[in-house]
Amino acid sequence: MNAIFLTLLFVQFVSSTANNNNNNNNNRNRLWQLPAKSTAVVTGGTKGIGHAIVSELCLSFGCKILTCARNEKELNECIKEWQEKGCDVRGCVADISTTEGRSSLMDAVKDLINDDDCANPGKLDILINNVGTNIRKPSIEYTEDDLEFVMKTNFKSFFEVTKLCHPYLIREKVEGESYCKQTSSVVNIGSVAGVVCMKSGTPYAATKAAMNQLTGNWACEWGPVGIRVNCITPWYINTALAQQVLKNEEYKK
Ligand SMILES: NC(=O)c1ccc[n+]([C@@H]2O[C@H](COP(=O)([O-])OP(=O)(O)OC[C@H]3O[C@@H](n4cnc5c(N)ncnc54)[C@H](OP(=O)(O)O)[C@@H]3O)[C@@H](O)[C@H]2O)c1
Repeated sequence: MNAIFLTLLFVQFVSSTANNNNNNNNNRNRLWQLPAKSTAVVTGGTKGIGHAIVSELCLSFGCKILTCARNEKELNECIKEWQEKGCDVRGCVADISTTEGRSSLMDAVKDLINDDDCANPGKLDILINNVGTNIRKPSIEYTEDDLEFVMKTNFKSFFEVTKLCHPYLIREKVEGESYCKQTSSVVNIGSVAGVVCMKSGTPYAATKAAMNQLTGNWACEWGPVGIRVNCITPWYINTALAQQVLKNEEYKK
């Protein structure tokens, strides 16, 4: 129940970003509060859903944010845009489907959380696992390289990044109790394709279904050390990743 409620809150939070009007701002701020300078890592923040999440966390909630992407030029442009609006956002060029990329990201995470002005110095408050990709073609046309690419981008990357962030996400237990007073939050960006069967790439669907299972299992494993883990499962959202589908008149039928 708690997980469902938090998921709904997060859906409200993302949909409010899209609408971006004053009424929604007021409603949202009543529902969703974060201490200023909470630290957040949002993977894949230069486009689409990740970009909207970074904007919301920095502009509405004053978070200190680290995001990453592979394209350096686009990343620099986004960072400049956010910083010009007064946001505390930094970027790391990294392909997090690789061990080297994840290592660069973690160096930047350590810099972020060790800043003097963090809400919880030395701790990471929020991890948004947003990076994802798709190759939309029939399973029998998938090469081994295609499968490897989708698996390592959608599954291995967030599994490993979350594991690496775990030491900074855990919280102290209340003395003599089995719970923590403070918590951190991991939000995985899944997909409807991981819940129902649809024509949107079968290996992609499998990675998103795996994300659902990891979410529930991690919530059980890590609840006792103060890490909340939730997954949101969007339907189609008009981003670069969805254009192959959204521009396809045949698919729309
Ligand atoms: N759009 C939809 O309809 C929809 C629906 C359901 C779920 N989702 C999920 O939502 C998430 C975001 O989707 P989106 O549509 O916003 O995607 P998008 O527009 O393609 O943006 C993806 C972001 O991730 C970055 N990225 C991709 N691969 C990366 C890697 N290996 N290492 C580091 N950064 C990487 C991209 O930058 P670079 O290319 O520069 O690396 C970009 O900033 C995905 O997990 C997707 O599966 C999307």
